[in-house]
Parts: sequence; structure tokens; C-alpha cells
Amino acid sequence: MEEKLLVIPQRLARMKEVLSRRQPDLRLFLERVVNYHNVSAILRTADAVGVLHVHYFHEDELPVNEAITRGAHRWLILHREEDIENGLKKLKEAGFQLVGTGLFPETVTFREVDYTKPTVIIVGHELEGISETVRRLADVIVKIPMYGMVQSLNVSVATGVILYEAERQRKACGLYEKGPRLSPEEIENILYHWAYERVLKDKARGRI
Ligand SMILES: C[S@@+](CC[C@H](N)C(=O)[O-])C[C@H]1O[C@@H](n2cnc3c(N)ncnc32)[C@H](O)[C@@H]1O
Repeated sequence: MEEKLLVIPQRLARMKEVLSRRQPDLRLFLERVVNYHNVSAILRTADAVGVLHVHYFHEDELPVNEAITRGAHRWLILHREEDIENGLKKLKEAGFQLVGTGLFPETVTFREVDYTKPTVIIVGHELEGISETVRRLADVIVKIPMYGMVQSLNVSVATGVILYEAERQRKACGLYEKGPRLSPEEIENILYHWAYERVLKDKARGRI
């Protein structure tokens, strides 16, 4: 397969290194996050923490601004969910714990959850927060303590805080260093997409 790839060896090595640290079992679910600044900042943090899969429920295409993501969204796999309930049930059946976020009576502090388990972190709409459906399906709802006058954090900040707690826990048990968490076939497919198909597409669009 490698002879087909259209990137220089250093770039290929970097892609392989990034893939060796991707955490396919740490996922995000964006429930109607509508502001493109927020979505873009979330995707950039997701890439930094080693998330690979981001699920979203949105009326339109996910609003992304390349200047804010710095291209990070291109290294993630985005899954559009047609329906919140089915999207979450599918992930639950696949063995993921569903971690909702927000300030509700039933919440626990975000550090109390074990994020080394297969986990989906669900964040909600900028004004309305997560829906009743998410609250019903979530295994746990976490809150980040608030000590100020304002009731909640910006959604991208909240996502970053929780993702970096997940990163801390996963790093402590070696999940970034134990070698690829993806199968050789998955790595090969992603590399084919990143280093061949996308390069051709970018060339055709005059991006490179
Ligand atoms: C601005 S908040 C929405 C506020 C809304 N009034 C509510 O009750 O959730 C948008 C999203 O950011 C996240 N969020 C903001 N502050 C949070 C906090 N302190 N703890 C956990 N999640 C938080 C949650 O995902 C929430 O759905």
C-alpha cells in the first residue's frame, strides 16, 4: 500500500505517530452545538487529546471554521447521527459508557468518572444544554465545579477540561504509549485516506 501514498516520508511518519496515539474508545458526541467557534475549538482540542471519532447531531452540516480548527477536523472521523436516541443507543450497545455533561441535581464531579473505560462524552447546546433524552440515556452526568457568578462554562472550555481529565487518566495507565489502539487494517485504511485519497482531492480543488 505504501508505494501508493502521496506524501513525503516525514509526513507519513508523523501520521503514523499520531495514529499510534489515537484513542478510538474515547469519543465525543456533540448534541446541537451550533456556534462554529465552539465546534471548531472542540475539534481542535479533540485532535490534541488523541480522540479519533466525533459524533454529532445537528440540523445542518457541522459548522466548522478551518482558521479556528487549524485543520484539526481533517484528522478526525466525524459521524453525523440522524437521531440522538438511536445514535447513543448504538454506542451503548457497542460497550461505551455514556457520560453526559451539565449542571443537574443528579451530577457527579467530572473527576469521579473512570475515563479509561470506553467512553462517550456528550456535550450540549450553548443555551439549552443536553436534552432530556441524553439525561435519560446517560450512565452518569458530570459537572465541572463552578465558584463564580456565572452559572456555566463555554461548551468548548467544558469539553477541554473533561477531555484533559480523560487524557490524564489514560496517560497514567499507559494508554498513549502501549502502541496503536487501532488495528493494522484500521491504520492502513486511515492512512490511505489521509495520504492518498485526500491528497488527490486537495490537488483537484487546487488546495495544494
Ligand atoms: C453553556 S452550557 C449550557 C447551559 C445550560 N443552561 C444547561 O443547563 O446545561 C453548554 C454545554 O457546556 C457544557 N458545560 C458548561 N458548563 C459546564 C459545567 N460546569 N459542567 C459540565 N458541563 C458544562 C455542557 O455540555 C453544556 O451542555
